[in-house]
Amino acid sequence: MGLGLIIPHTDAQKPKLTLDFTKPGATVSPMLYGLMTEEINHSYDGGLYAELIRNRIFKDHPNTPEGWSLVRQDSSSNAAIKLMAPTESNVLFDERRHAITGALTTCLRLTVEKANGRVGIANEGYWGIPVKPNTAYRASFYIKGSGSVQPPRRPGSQQSVAPQRPVIEDNTAGPIRVTIESNDGKTVYASGTIDLAKSIYWKKYELTLTTAADVKPTTDARFVISTDRTGLYYFNLVSLFPPTYKSRPNGNRPDLMQMMADMKPKFLRFPGGNFLEGPLLTDAFPWKQTLGPLEQRPGHKGSWGYRPSDGMGLLEFLLWCEDIGAEPVLGVYAGYSLNGDHIDAGPLLKPYVDDALDEIEYVIGDVNTYWGAKRAADGHPEPFKLRYIEIGNEDWFDRSNSYDGRFNQFRAAIEAKYSQLICISTIADAQYPDLKVTTGKKPAVLDEHYYRNSWAMWENASQYDSYDRNGPKIFVGEWATREGAPTTNLIAALGDAAWMTGMERNSDIVIMSCYAPLFVNVNTATTTAPKAWQWDSDLIGYNTLNSYGAPSYHVQKMFSHYLGDKIVPMTAENIPTQPRPLTRRDSADGKTTPPLVPTVFYSATKDEKTGAIYLKVVNTLGKKQPVEINLMGIGKVSPEATLVVIKGDKPEATNTITDPEKIVPVASKIKGIASVFTRSLDPYSVSIFQLQIGK
Ligand code: AHR
Repeated sequence: MGLGLIIPHTDAQKPKLTLDFTKPGATVSPMLYGLMTEEINHSYDGGLYAELIRNRIFKDHPNTPEGWSLVRQDSSSNAAIKLMAPTESNVLFDERRHAITGALTTCLRLTVEKANGRVGIANEGYWGIPVKPNTAYRASFYIKGSGSVQPPRRPGSQQSVAPQRPVIEDNTAGPIRVTIESNDGKTVYASGTIDLAKSIYWKKYELTLTTAADVKPTTDARFVISTDRTGLYYFNLVSLFPPTYKSRPNGNRPDLMQMMADMKPKFLRFPGGNFLEGPLLTDAFPWKQTLGPLEQRPGHKGSWGYRPSDGMGLLEFLLWCEDIGAEPVLGVYAGYSLNGDHIDAGPLLKPYVDDALDEIEYVIGDVNTYWGAKRAADGHPEPFKLRYIEIGNEDWFDRSNSYDGRFNQFRAAIEAKYSQLICISTIADAQYPDLKVTTGKKPAVLDEHYYRNSWAMWENASQYDSYDRNGPKIFVGEWATREGAPTTNLIAALGDAAWMTGMERNSDIVIMSCYAPLFVNVNTATTTAPKAWQWDSDLIGYNTLNSYGAPSYHVQKMFSHYLGDKIVPMTAENIPTQPRPLTRRDSADGKTTPPLVPTVFYSATKDEKTGAIYLKVVNTLGKKQPVEINLMGIGKVSPEATLVVIKGDKPEATNTITDPEKIVPVASKIKGIASVFTRSLDPYSVSIFQLQIGK
C-alpha cells in the first residue's frame, strides 16, 4: 500500500464537495444493493448451475441430439446414434416404450452393428467440459441395452406393428466405459466403468471420475460413454457434476457463487426478467415442474432462444439466496407474456393468481400447508424469508392497459393471505404515467428499469434528487450502462458508478437496486454450438473453466462494501461539465445545443456505530481533477484514511476471460486528512475514501 499525495487547497474555482454533518441524514436502505437473475446468456445451463452435460435429457432440439456425437475408435465400426423422440414412428416394438417418466420421454439410441474397438456417445458440454486437477466428477445416467428384436404381431393381425429390422446381436451386458477425455480422444483425463446388467428395462448408474494431480486445466474435453460390443444402447438423463458450492447436490459453480457472495448482496430478484414471462402465455416460468427429482423436470421453452433444463428450479433459487445470504425477491407470473398476449383481470386470471399463491406457500408456507409440506419433502422444512413479491415483469409493454386490473387482483389475493408481504408494481409512475396502477391504494414499491449508455447515466444521475419523498418507494430492478461486450468496459463502470451515487444519495426512496444481466457465458460460436450470449454488456463473464468480473462488477462490489447506514447530505460547487453528444432523439426534439453533463459525481454515507465515513467520488474525465473536500461540522477526523480506487487509461479498457484483472480496485492508505483537504482524482476513476471521525 502506497501513501497517497494530498494537495494543499488553494484554488477557489476548484470543484468543492461539502459533506454536511450538521444535518441529520436519512437512513440508507438496508436492502439497497442486490442481484437480479434470469436464464439469459447461459446464466444457469452452461453457467451457474454446475451440470456439465449439454442436453442431458435430449429435448433441446426436436429432431437432432444437439451436443451429442458418435465416437468410433475405428472407422470400420458400424454404428449410429439416433434421437428417439416420443413421436418417432420408424422404431422397433420395444422402443415405443422408452419413457422413464412423463418428463423423460426422449432418449438417445446408440446402435452398434459392428464394433472394432470402442464405440460410444460423446457430449461436448457447454463449450467444453472443464478439466481440473485432483477433481472428482459425479457421473450418472440411465441406460438399457437390447438387441434388435423382430416385432411381435398383434393378436389376429398379419401386420407387424413396426418395420422389420436386421437382427443385431445383443452383447450389451457387460462393462461400459465412462471417460472425460480430450476432444480428439487421445488423452483420457478421468475414467470409470459400470457393469451394464442384462435387462431391457432402464436402470440408473452412478460413478465418480477423478482427475490426477498433474492434469493441466483445459476446456478442450468431452464426456464419453462407450462400449466395445454390439447391440442397441439407450441413454437418458446423462449427468456430470463437478464439486459444487457448499457441496450441494444439484448445486452451483463455486467460483460464481463466491463472486456473488463477495458482493454482499442483500437480495436476489428472480426468476426474471423476460424468463418469468416466456414468449407465449404457455411459456411462463413453470415453477411447479421445476421441483423435485431431475427425473420429473422436462425443462421448458425459455425466453432467450435455448431450452432451459430447469435444473435451476424454484428450490435451487431459494437455496442460492440462502447460500449467499440474500433475501429472495420473488417475481410471480402476472398473465402477460412477451408476444403481447395478456389475460384480463377477472375469472380467467384467477388460476394465475392461485398459482402465485401456491408459489408463495411453497416459499413461506408452514409445513402443514400443501406446498409448505412439499418444500419440507424437498428437504427444506424451514420457511424461507420473503417480504417482496413482484407482480409480473415490465408490464409497460402491455399497452392494453390491463396491468391496473391484473396488479390489483394479485395484490388483493396476496395481501388477504399474507398481510406482511409487499407487492411491487412493474410500472413506474415516472416512466409510464399513462399505464401506471391507478385503482386502489398506490403500490408501495415501483420497479424502474434503465438500460443506458454512459452519457445518459451521467445526465440522469441526479434524477432521484427531485423524486417525491411521499410517493411510492423505488426498486431499480434492472439497470446497466450498456457499453462493452460481452462484459462492460471502464466507461460503462464510470456510468454505473455515477448512477449509483445518485441512488445512494437518495436511498431513503430508492430502497433496492440490482444490475442486469448478472451473468454471461462468453463463448463465441463454434461449428457445433451457437454463440453463448444474447445480451451485450454483462457483469460477470465466464467460460466453463474460468470466470472474471467486468469493471462494473468491481464497482458494484466497492459500493456495497463501503456503505454506511446514514446518508450524509452533500453539496457541490464548481463541478466542471462537458457537452454530451447530441442523439437522434435530440434532433427529433429539435435540440441543437448539446446539454452539459457533470464530470464529477459523489455520495457519502456514515456508519453510525463505527464513525466511518464512506465518500464516493467519480471522475469521468481522462485527466486528473483536483477536488476540495470539506467535512462541515465533523469535529475530529483521523488524519489517515483508506482510499480505494478503480481506474484505467482509456474508456474502452476492460477485463476479459484471458486478461481478467486489468481493471480492479486498489486500496491504499492516505495521510493528511483534515476537515478541509484536497485530493486529485485520477483520470477515469472511481475513488472511495474511508474516513474515520471521532478519533
Ligand atoms: O436484462 C435483460 C432483459 O431486459 C430482461 O429480461 C427484461 O426484463 C429487460 O427488458
